[in-house]
Amino acid sequence: MANDSFYPRLKAFVIETTGMVFFSDKDEELTGIFSKRFEAVGAGDCAAYLVYLETDKDELDELIAELTIGETYFFRHNEQFDAIRNIVLPRIIRKNQKNRRIRIWSAGCAIGAEPYTLSIILKKEFGAELAGWVIDIVGTDINKKFLAIAKRGRFRGWALRAVSDEIKNECFTPAGQDWTIKPYFTKNVMFRYHNLALDPFPSHLDNLFAFDLILCRNVTIYFNHETIRSIIRKFHECLVDDGWLMVGHSEPNMVTFKAFKSVNAPGTVLYQKSDEADETTSFAEVPPTPLWTPPLPPPEWKITTGTINAIEAIAPHVTPEPAPEPPQTGGSRLDEIRRLADRGKSGEAARCCENLLKTDKLNPSIHLFHALVLEQMGKDEDAEAALRRAIYLDRNFVLPHYHFGLFLYKKGDQKGASRSLANAVRLLSNMDDARAFEEYDGISVAQLKELAKIHLEAIRG
Ligand SMILES: C[S@@+](CC[C@H](N)C(=O)[O-])C[C@H]1O[C@@H](n2cnc3c(N)ncnc32)[C@H](O)[C@@H]1O
Repeated sequence: MANDSFYPRLKAFVIETTGMVFFSDKDEELTGIFSKRFEAVGAGDCAAYLVYLETDKDELDELIAELTIGETYFFRHNEQFDAIRNIVLPRIIRKNQKNRRIRIWSAGCAIGAEPYTLSIILKKEFGAELAGWVIDIVGTDINKKFLAIAKRGRFRGWALRAVSDEIKNECFTPAGQDWTIKPYFTKNVMFRYHNLALDPFPSHLDNLFAFDLILCRNVTIYFNHETIRSIIRKFHECLVDDGWLMVGHSEPNMVTFKAFKSVNAPGTVLYQKSDEADETTSFAEVPPTPLWTPPLPPPEWKITTGTINAIEAIAPHVTPEPAPEPPQTGGSRLDEIRRLADRGKSGEAARCCENLLKTDKLNPSIHLFHALVLEQMGKDEDAEAALRRAIYLDRNFVLPHYHFGLFLYKKGDQKGASRSLANAVRLLSNMDDARAFEEYDGISVAQLKELAKIHLEAIRG
């Protein structure tokens, strides 16, 4: 197969799509995986399979399921969880006393052992201190089969090999030879599809912003410098001030992480977002040369991504701070508001919107952003009013319809949610699929339509 003239193109497509440059010198492994998929779909050669990949979006998921390696287990590298328990969580809890929330992202979570381990630690060891707090743990992965296992919460004994009998009995129920995690420990954990190499983040659409802690362990080992640099920069943007990043043992690289302050803990290193590091110069200093360059320019395949869950309200209590003036320079004012919101500064972002609305009150985009920020702050009634205003001001503006759908779904109004999401799909169907919503993480019409349809299907069951 390696002699097939379309093989380099197929290989380039796989590497571009997953970021897994690891496969650049793994032709034997790759051709084995391709052969399996060719047989499954009845493709005779690489060109036929490429056409198949383009036309059947489920096939990409099947291929990714074959390519990705999901080695993981509960309490994997316990010294890292010790550092989270002894250093990170106490500091986050002290810092977040006012807004009483904690947001954690497990990026590349595989079957969910990592986010569930965090949930067990938080509930078992910090439960009393955190009573009444809003805890969000988001697990994301590119492999939908892993995500399905994570959502089901049923694990082989092997995944629990580092779990003590005490925790096993307290947090899991035996299910034949398997173990099911108890609902108490799954309540604050949500899973969704997200491709670190392609999908945007920070992202309000995917609930990927303003985290106190991000874990991305044993994932970037498959990527090249360029992709890692871009991912780490985006993690930095997704963290609140003083937020924490934890990577796997084989991933630390002082150049890549220079924008963070490193904190040594027994057996591991933690990275903290800090004013002490100069992010502009630090990120620029990373060598920009990719380890691998595709032999042919990547083909223009359309990739669609999905997410099932609605955006969650995250901050029920926000302390008033002095109202800042809307920023006037350096990119659009809405961009600045987005940046504030991404860093968890919802109060400031809301006040910026309110200032902008004083002079531009018929602008539906500002009302939409205002609604998103208000929703983050837990001000659902105000958020609803702002969404209604955005729709009223421009009935053909698709984003408020989409968000109103998610909002109503969260409130339990399935009929209203269906109607709004169907409106969004109808409007999107009249638009050019390739058009990108620049102010909105650059998401394309096709991607948003796909997301809206996924939500609709989930609502209609
Ligand atoms: C070895 S597992 C790590 C699981 C867990 N973080 C741990 O350390 O126990 C690597 C995971 O990264 C995921 N992955 C690979 N490429 C990815 C990408 N581009 N975006 C998101 N996840 C990806 C794989 O599907 C796999 O589940």
